[in-house]
Amino acid sequence: MNNLLQPRELLRAVAGGHPVSGAKLARRMGVTRAAVWKQIAALREQGLPIQARAGLGYSLAWPTQLLDADAIAEHLGHEQDSGIQVCWEVDSTQNEMARHLTALPELAVVLAEIQTAGRGRRGREWFSPPGFNLYLSCLKRFDQGFSGLSGLPLAVGVCVVQALEDIGMTGLQLKWPNDVLTEQGKLAGILIDLNGEYQGPCHAIVGVGINMRLPDIASERIGRAAATLADAAETALPDRNLLAARLVSRLRGGLKTFEQRGFAAFTVDFSRLDQLRGRALRIESPAGVLVGVGGGIHADGSLLLQTDNGQIAVTAGDISVHASQRVLDKPRLS
Ligand code: BTN
Repeated sequence: MNNLLQPRELLRAVAGGHPVSGAKLARRMGVTRAAVWKQIAALREQGLPIQARAGLGYSLAWPTQLLDADAIAEHLGHEQDSGIQVCWEVDSTQNEMARHLTALPELAVVLAEIQTAGRGRRGREWFSPPGFNLYLSCLKRFDQGFSGLSGLPLAVGVCVVQALEDIGMTGLQLKWPNDVLTEQGKLAGILIDLNGEYQGPCHAIVGVGINMRLPDIASERIGRAAATLADAAETALPDRNLLAARLVSRLRGGLKTFEQRGFAAFTVDFSRLDQLRGRALRIESPAGVLVGVGGGIHADGSLLLQTDNGQIAVTAGDISVHASQRVLDKPRLS
């Protein structure tokens, strides 16, 4: 008997949602009961909702599936089934991809069950507990440099919504540049790390995080409204590997389309999903605070804002929506 228990095996044992006794787990895995208990405590610490019920044993609050590269490949079919790697724990799938960049094929995908230092936009943390969500990065190389990639974040937002629509989600919106929203809040986030030359070879590491379920400790860690598929979906949660496959397929297809046709291929879909059009907005931009009404998206992916002084194209900023109803009266610039 040893004390080495892989957390992945433990999660696999409780993933069905049925209680499993500590003694049985210990026997099945050839470890001590203390080792099982220690690993359960570690997984709980990372946010996995494992309950202990007297006389029954340990169980997950909801059944789930472990991420599995073969299952994802099977959902994808033969054309797209290669280049997918599933890790148990990494600091960030973005960093993991960056570390192995030269060895990775075009449109390679890295997923992880846990991120210990998941990265959000603007230096924020992306809370990444195990068991329920998706954390994925996809590699795309471009020949023409990143000067022409300003619409890429928006195009990726459209791809993520399409993947969620593929599994039956409705009513999703995009908050410029690419927060994926339900009525409850932010469901998915996108981070793109660009590297290379301004007008030569470069690459984008496209990172997507989708909240499927969040543990109670999440609200403290995230500090603002976060939505989950569990809250928004009208039916049972989709199989994680199926959703991962839809996401990989939409991203790979969308990134190839973007390379050939640019953001123009995504403008109609973005407009359909645009949460900010016609809304009263306050934008903390590098140029100062701007106030006005969302006027849609420019062909280069910038956000159009109707102000007292005319229309402005905004390329960066933190946006808050000021009224829930659409605004018809005059906008202001403050
Ligand atoms: C945001 O702040 O909206 C962006 C969140 C992006 C999170 C994803 S999860 C997979 C990838 N790895 C990371 O560290 N971040 C991105």
